[in-house]
Amino acid sequence: MTIGFIGLGNMATAIIGGMLKEQICEPKDIIGYARTEESRQRASLTFDIKIALDNMEVAEESDVLFLAIKPQMFDTVLPDIRDSVKENAIIVSIAAGKSIAYLENAFKPGTKIVRCMPNTPALVGEGCTGVSLNDDVNADDVKTVMNILNCFGKAELVSESMMDAVVAVSGSSPAYVFMFIEAMADGAVKAGLPRDKAYAFAAQTVLGSAKMVLETGKHPAELKDMVCSPGGTTIEAVKVLEEKGFRGAIEDAMEACVKRNRELGA
Ligand SMILES: NC(=O)c1ccc[n+]([C@@H]2O[C@H](COP(=O)([O-])OP(=O)(O)OC[C@H]3O[C@@H](n4cnc5c(N)ncnc54)[C@H](OP(=O)(O)O)[C@@H]3O)[C@@H](O)[C@H]2O)c1
Repeated sequence: MTIGFIGLGNMATAIIGGMLKEQICEPKDIIGYARTEESRQRASLTFDIKIALDNMEVAEESDVLFLAIKPQMFDTVLPDIRDSVKENAIIVSIAAGKSIAYLENAFKPGTKIVRCMPNTPALVGEGCTGVSLNDDVNADDVKTVMNILNCFGKAELVSESMMDAVVAVSGSSPAYVFMFIEAMADGAVKAGLPRDKAYAFAAQTVLGSAKMVLETGKHPAELKDMVCSPGGTTIEAVKVLEEKGFRGAIEDAMEACVKRNRELGA
């Protein structure tokens, strides 16, 4: 099976790196093309994958074809590759805002389409990817695609109508988490901790807390309550967060994100 990449930027690099690390394929099974010679050379030197002469060659060779270009490039690139796509190939788009209907329209009738939304933690192998399919994708195709997407984190099937929520809770949310880490570190610096240590403590705590949610299966509120000793320090901080509208601010931010994603996809 050949896995192809139109675009060899950040996300393609994360996906290729994950596949090779997990050894689900070999460099010779991967082909790609990028706009500039610099990016093509970098991918070739980093991964030893095959670099195509153009996007058409990638499409001709690929059984699974990743569209790893920016959404604004789709209208230019897809007409060029439409007639080169292999029969039975699975097209996997990772672009924000490009719907299954848009992609079906861009390729021949009956083309297998997978739309997914990864996030930047994919770059360190801890991505979270929402995945939607069209009716032409069969159970074996799903296995093939999920096997690839699980190489750089966790992938979950969702109906396409849930993609706006997926963008808010995983695509965009690393930004909110980074702001939280930065703010906690600033607070620790104010209290006297050196800045490098402050970032390390704040980030490791977010990582550990996330792991507790995922691994214990306990409700986040129960885990929060476990930290709050009666009359202790944590409940004082929790009270201030509630007074300042911490939860409400996050919920409003999510709502704004969903709304914007709907506007962009319209
Ligand atoms: N980064 C994220 O957080 C994130 C999260 C979820 C989804 N996505 C989606 O992932 C996709 C890729 O994002 P990215 O962050 O990987 O972008 P990126 O780093 O800018 O990579 C884009 C790649 O597309 C290549 N390219 C541009 N025009 C091309 C053309 N005509 N033919 C072939 N290749 C072309 C670029 O080549 P050059 O390098 O030579 O210019 C580059 O290798 C986007 O659709 C984005 O919406 C990104």
